[in-house]
Amino acid sequence: MEELKWVPSTVDVTRPSVARMYDYYLGGSHNFEADRAAAKQVEQIFPGVAQSAQANRSFLRRVVRHLVSEGVDQFLDLGSGIPTVGNVHEIAQHDNPSARVVYVDVEPVAVSHSNALLADNPHANALLADLRATSTVLSGARELLDFSRPIGVLIIAALHFVPDADDPYTKVAEYLSAFPSGSYLAITHATWDQLTEEERAEAAQVAQIYSSSDNQLTMRTHAQVNKFFDGMELLEPGIVAVNDWRPDSFEDYTSIYGAVARKP
Ligand SMILES: C[S@@+](CC[C@H](N)C(=O)[O-])C[C@H]1O[C@@H](n2cnc3c(N)ncnc32)[C@H](O)[C@@H]1O
Repeated sequence: MEELKWVPSTVDVTRPSVARMYDYYLGGSHNFEADRAAAKQVEQIFPGVAQSAQANRSFLRRVVRHLVSEGVDQFLDLGSGIPTVGNVHEIAQHDNPSARVVYVDVEPVAVSHSNALLADNPHANALLADLRATSTVLSGARELLDFSRPIGVLIIAALHFVPDADDPYTKVAEYLSAFPSGSYLAITHATWDQLTEEERAEAAQVAQIYSSSDNQLTMRTHAQVNKFFDGMELLEPGIVAVNDWRPDSFEDYTSIYGAVARKP
């Protein structure tokens, strides 16, 4: 077992974590043997997984740039993951040095690594919290963010780890109801919509691998993803594959929907 200084004592390194598997797909080094083994199994079934993760990150980068250009200078990044190239605060503060960012993740490695990176950044911090605990997250976020001004809520590749039984629609609505008109919601979400029967069988195997991790995988349809945006104004081009959302370079098709909407 690896014993590294950056590993919080509460972490079970023998059980795959979706945060650390994703770090592996992105070429990061904050993952352990159990994470790599599960991630490699996924790669065998679905060789495009690393490319999809990159396309998901590119979407996030384009969205943050767009929102900063629209005057948004505060972000709440729910399920933010282990820091990697092009973190939200780096993109936002590049264009607006006073932009504020609160990262939230339930995975201790993600949060301790984020806070180490942000030690000298007074405008960004990371909370160890479950995004389903909306009031805990909101009270933590309030210490840095001004809830009387618009906030960009980012839930990128995280809602497919929240099953319907945990009522993700109500949770998302609770966040949005805490923020004023002019706030934005950006979501990416894995889907099976465009998969062939054969690919669906493969996706079911992938879901099975995730079931051994700290989070189950719940795929959702276009209509189910649309429901997260109830009462919001979707920006063009609506809910599309992340690689098709205002692309600035060519990226292969991904089975991940992405969309951004404004609170009227
Ligand atoms: C696939 S990663 C995505 C990371 C980052 N948002 C991105 O897109 O690059 C999913 C992240 O969501 C986090 N996550 C899953 N369920 C969560 C929950 N209930 N509360 C907070 N974070 C959660 C995981 O720990 C992981 O870091």
